[in-house]
Amino acid sequence: MRIIFCDNIIDKKVDPDFEEEYRTATEQRFPISLLSFEELNNANISRAISRIKEADNLEKAIYRGWMIQPDKYKSLFEHLLKKNIKLVNTPEEYETCHYLPSSYQYIDGLTPLTNWMVVDETIDFERIFELTDVFQNEAIIVKDFVKSLKHNWKEACFIPNASDRDLVRKVVSRFIELQGTQLNKGLVFRKFEDLEFLTTHSKSKMPLTKEYRLFFLYGKLIQVFNYWDEGDYDNTKPDLDKFKEVGKSIQSNFFTMDIAQKKDGSWIIMELGDGQVSGLPDNANKNIFYKTLAEYTL
Ligand SMILES: Nc1ncnc2c1ncn2[C@@H]1O[C@H](COP(=O)(O)OP(=O)(O)O)[C@@H](O)[C@H]1O
Ligand SMILES: [Mg+2]
Repeated sequence: MRIIFCDNIIDKKVDPDFEEEYRTATEQRFPISLLSFEELNNANISRAISRIKEADNLEKAIYRGWMIQPDKYKSLFEHLLKKNIKLVNTPEEYETCHYLPSSYQYIDGLTPLTNWMVVDETIDFERIFELTDVFQNEAIIVKDFVKSLKHNWKEACFIPNASDRDLVRKVVSRFIELQGTQLNKGLVFRKFEDLEFLTTHSKSKMPLTKEYRLFFLYGKLIQVFNYWDEGDYDNTKPDLDKFKEVGKSIQSNFFTMDIAQKKDGSWIIMELGDGQVSGLPDNANKNIFYKTLAEYTL
């Protein structure tokens, strides 16, 4: 299994944000390549992967880097395949966990009630209100198909009462404004669940709650990380059996599942993500991560 990281534009070495992963992957004897994320984003796919050599025989690979839009991922997947390199997830599998609306069918009932709409140039508030009305007087959060603006919690993420249309309009407009051209495909609304409080984020002041990031490879749970780098996680780990079971049904070879504890003690799924573009928390032990990956793949 090859690992493909992003380079940095300046010296063409690994992107500094992935340096530690690069080092530990090397220590675990993974063959490594670099691609240019900038070229990929500018749709210069041949240039993006120009330094990746064609393999003699079909070789599997995992990309570890910044999030890629599904159409760009498809192009990356296809062009790497021409070089005899096959990414762990097909474009369909990538999109399944990258877009919340695509993964919802697998986690419905275990994750907050969610609805969504695709957004084009004009913002249709009548359609938005149809979606937010479903939640009546409940608190909700807004995000796009991939990301929230959780660090702008009050102004662009959290809506305390879904029936307050002025507030819905204000928060959603701010979310759209801040996302700008980075908005991923559309809007997603989710019932806000009262989660077990951990601490307040030292910079953004958003409430941090007890959450874990689970990594699954080929249907198996391989790693569990504390999601936040701050706060006192005591040693009580959740019962993971039901999440392992759900994990088996998800159509992706490598993905993450973020889980959170509700105030009543039960555990829910926050969201899924493609394992190739899901970050390791700063405090995560990268050695153990790559060692485990090596055990399952090399
Ligand atoms: N429906 C919800 N109920 C309670 N807390 C939520 C909800 N959605 C998001 N949050 C909080 O906001 C954080 C970010 O939300 P998330 O959907 O994971 O966005 P992102 O894609 O930006 O990571 C979560 O980790 C959780 O702490
Ligand atoms: Mg998240």
